[in-house]
Formats: sequence, C-alpha cells, structure tokens
Amino acid sequence: MKKICTVVGARPQFIKLAVVSRVLRNRFQEVLVHTGQHYDPGMSEVFFEEMDIPKPDYNLGVSGGTHGQMTGQMLMKIEEVLLRERPDMLLVFGDTNSTMAGALAAVKLGIPICHVEAGNRLGTLGNPEEANRVVTDRISALHLVCTASGVAFLEREGFSGSIHLVGDPMYDAFCYYRARLDGGELENIRAFDGRLVAVPERFYYLTSHRQENADRDEKLDQIFQAAEELDAPVVYPVHPRNHERAARLCRANGYRNIILTAPVGYKTSISLVNRAEKIVTDSGGLQREAFFAQKPCVTICDYVSWPETMVNRCNQLAKPEKADILEKLGVPVRFDPAYQPFGDGHAAEKIVEAVRQFLA
Ligand code: UD1
Ligand code: UDP
Repeated sequence: MKKICTVVGARPQFIKLAVVSRVLRNRFQEVLVHTGQHYDPGMSEVFFEEMDIPKPDYNLGVSGGTHGQMTGQMLMKIEEVLLRERPDMLLVFGDTNSTMAGALAAVKLGIPICHVEAGNRLGTLGNPEEANRVVTDRISALHLVCTASGVAFLEREGFSGSIHLVGDPMYDAFCYYRARLDGGELENIRAFDGRLVAVPERFYYLTSHRQENADRDEKLDQIFQAAEELDAPVVYPVHPRNHERAARLCRANGYRNIILTAPVGYKTSISLVNRAEKIVTDSGGLQREAFFAQKPCVTICDYVSWPETMVNRCNQLAKPEKADILEKLGVPVRFDPAYQPFGDGHAAEKIVEAVRQFLA
C-alpha cells in the first residue's frame, strides 16, 4: 500500500481531514502529522473526538511566535518525519503556516505534494495566508480545487494538467455531519469561565479572528458596535487570539447584546449556522457554511475569497465599520437552491481518486 503523509495543524484543517481521511484510509496508508499550531482542547481535541478523526501519528508541538518562527520550526520537524517515513506523497489543506511548512519540507526531499483547496486567491500579499497559498500551489504536483474560480486562478498562473476540480471538502463535512446532528448541540455552549450559555431563540452568529481585524481594538470594537444595534443577540465563540481583547472591550463598553463564548465544536458551530438569522464573519470556512445553509452572510474583509458565495448578495463584503456592517446586513438576499458551486458533497472520493491516478 502506498503511503500518504497528511500534515494538518489548524481547526479548519481538522474538519477537512475528517472527511478526507475516512476515504483515504480505504486505499492508502496514512501517516498523520499534527503540527500543534492549534492546541487548546477546544481548538483541536474536540474535533478529533466528535468527528472520529484518527489520533495523529506525530504531534510536533509547534505553535505561537511570529510567522517565521512558527513556519521555521515546523519545517525542521516535518522534515525529520518525512525522512523517517519516506511517504509517496504529502497531502496538505488550505493556507495556514502548517500547510506551507509541510509543502516546503516535502519539495526539498522530492516528495510530490497534493494541495487540497488549491487555487484560492485574494490577490494581495497583505493577507498573511496568501503567501502560504501561492507558495504551496507553486510547488505542488497536484492541485485539487474546490470551485471553478480556483481553476481559473491556477490557469491564469500557468498551471495545467495538474488541476482537478473536486468540490469542497467543507461541503462534504457540512452534509455529512448535518445529517448526524441530534438537536442538543446548542445546549453545551460554554462561556470562558466554563458556565453554560443559554442560546436565545433568535440570534446572529459572529466569528472574527483574522489577523487583519482581530489584532486591533478599533476594528473589533466597530464590529461589536454593529452587533449592539442588532434586533437579536449576537453569539460570538471567540478564537483564543481574541479572547482577552473581546472580553475587555465588552466589559469596558458595557455591551449587552453580545454573548461571548469559548470556541465551540464543529457540530455546535454548524448548528449555530443553521439556526442563526444571519452570519457576520471573517472566516473563510464560515462564509461558505452560511452559503451551504442558505443564510445571508456579511464577511468582514477587503477582498473576495469565495466569489461563488457572492451571487445575489448572499455573501457581501463589509469594512470593519459599524455603518457598513449594518447596511450590508439590511440588504435583502435571495438564494437559488439549484445553484451549488461547491460540488456534490463527495469531494473526498474525488480527492482520493486523483491521488490514486497520480501515483499509479
Ligand atoms: C490560523 C491560520 C488562519 C486560519 C485560522 C483558523 C495561519 C497563518 N493562519 O490563524 O488562516 O483562518 O488559523 O482558525 O496559519 N492560540 C491559542 N490556542 C490555540 C490556537 C492558537 O492560544 O489553540 C493562539 C496562538 O498561541 C497564537 C494566536 O492564537 O498566539 C494565533 O494563532 P495562530 O495559529 O498563529 O493563527 P490563527 O489566528 O489561529
Ligand atoms: N468553527 C468551529 N467552532 C468555532 C468557530 C468556528 O467549529 O468556535 C468552525 C466553523 O463552523 C468552520 C470552521 O470552524 O467549519 C472555520 O474555521 P476558522 O474560522 O477557524 O478558519 P478559516 O475557515 O477562516 O480558515
């Protein structure tokens, strides 16, 4: 059996891994490497448990620091694993530092790279993930792409022959786990101090963790000021990088319409998506899930990352400014249930088949 080494490290990668690994292991031996980038139990362990992801063969324990420190340490440690395991292929997802470190380690050892979620582009290196995407695509042997816009970006950059439009494994996960919700997922949400949080009947779902928004008081506070004006409470599970800032801003300004919670598990998150009135986010994953669930979404970002979600204004960009966010939330939106540009919920099978063909 051929050996595939999969490198993951961050929350959205665990979600994609859950659906891909299940199919991959029917055909290949998978060596699973967790870089350690996300390490809090609520950012890592909870996904492995509730999504039945196999325990990683290696946990490299690399997290925090500057982008260079994190990427450099991962690169050294992943290289050691690759030298020991000598896989036939390296598989990485998305655009995190774990993605690029895995790809760089592999290319130097002559191990072909399969990049899942290839071709996504914002068009600015001002976004810290864009460099990870561009570098990983440049050195990958196999580009597995979620949507037609990703194919177009890659073709424009001169790639051909290596591109496969497979659909979005996030959509696979959404379909698979939505069918397995038991209805109790919103009863286990906890505040930072561990107390249970009651989720109201009507609410908006907010997440914000992008470096561009989350690392400045003014930007997060503008998002909060918009949240304060809404006609229902706003549930915000806070990424650890924003924990201190979010709690301090809410306390200092006496905000009452924002329910801060600890990060939630995947099933709870998609339940929040399904039940929310509307979504406000800067997450690449959550803006797609809003689209999957046909919920209006406002994405706090200067650049389009998933153009397919923007038709009929189902997903709209907003600046991190109160007035702009509120204006966009007020726009009427129409979903076309027949329009599904993210595949058929079986991207994982197509990913594994593309790998099989490549290695044959
Ligand atoms: C990373 C990805 C981003 C992705 C996000 C998903 C990069 C460059 N960015 O950003 O594309 O959208 O993951 O959630 O890889 N921290 C904790 N506990 C944890 C995880 C992180 O305290 O479990 C802290 C870290 O110590 C660090 C900060 O949060 O100081 C940021 O974490 P990091 O992994 O660098 O970036 P993310 O913002 O999570
Ligand atoms: N998510 C989660 N718990 C949370 C917040 C988000 O499970 O507290 C899920 C969300 O539903 C989506 C994924 O995490 O499936 C998105 O990951 P994230 O926003 O961290 O990263 P991005 O997609 O922006 O890279």
